[in-house]
Order: sequence, then C-alpha cells, then structure tokens
Amino acid sequence: MSEKSHTITICMGSSCFSRGNKKNVHLLQQYLKERKLEDNVLLKGTHCMDQCDKGPMMEIDGELIYHLTEESISEILDQKLGLTSL
Ligand code: FES
Repeated sequence: MSEKSHTITICMGSSCFSRGNKKNVHLLQQYLKERKLEDNVLLKGTHCMDQCDKGPMMEIDGELIYHLTEESISEILDQKLGLTSL
C-alpha cells in the first residue's frame, strides 16, 4: 500500500465538535471525495488538542489551523494541499 501524501487531523473534542467540527468533518470528507483525494490524504480525528479557545481547529501536515468555519474550510484545504478551487 502506498503512503498518503498528507495527513489531516481534526479535533473531535467536545468544544471543537460542538462549535463546528461536527459539520466540518463531513465537509472534509466530502471535499476529499469530490476531488478523489481519499487515497492521498489520511483523515484522522483526535481528542481535545488543548487549545479550545482557538477552536474549532485541525492540523494539516503538522500545521495547526484555528477558527475553522464552514466557509473557510475548502479554501484552506485548497491552499494547504496545493490545489486550486473547483
Ligand atoms: S476540543 Fe478542540 S482543542 Fe479542545
């Protein structure tokens, strides 16, 4: 099996989850599916990352991304994964 090129870890702690990541995790899955990136990107959930005041948050390839919104998530993914918008 080939290694994934990117790793996304989304915080599923109760604070981030209730403030947007419940929806954002679905948007992430949809984003990866639409762009056929599921084989290249490892998507993981994690417990509280101890920075709830900056949540909802996720990590892409070791870089922490704060204050995620439904509106910003695909733009952030485009940038971080080196893609252009559909
Ligand atoms: S719940 Fe996400 S940082 Fe605490």
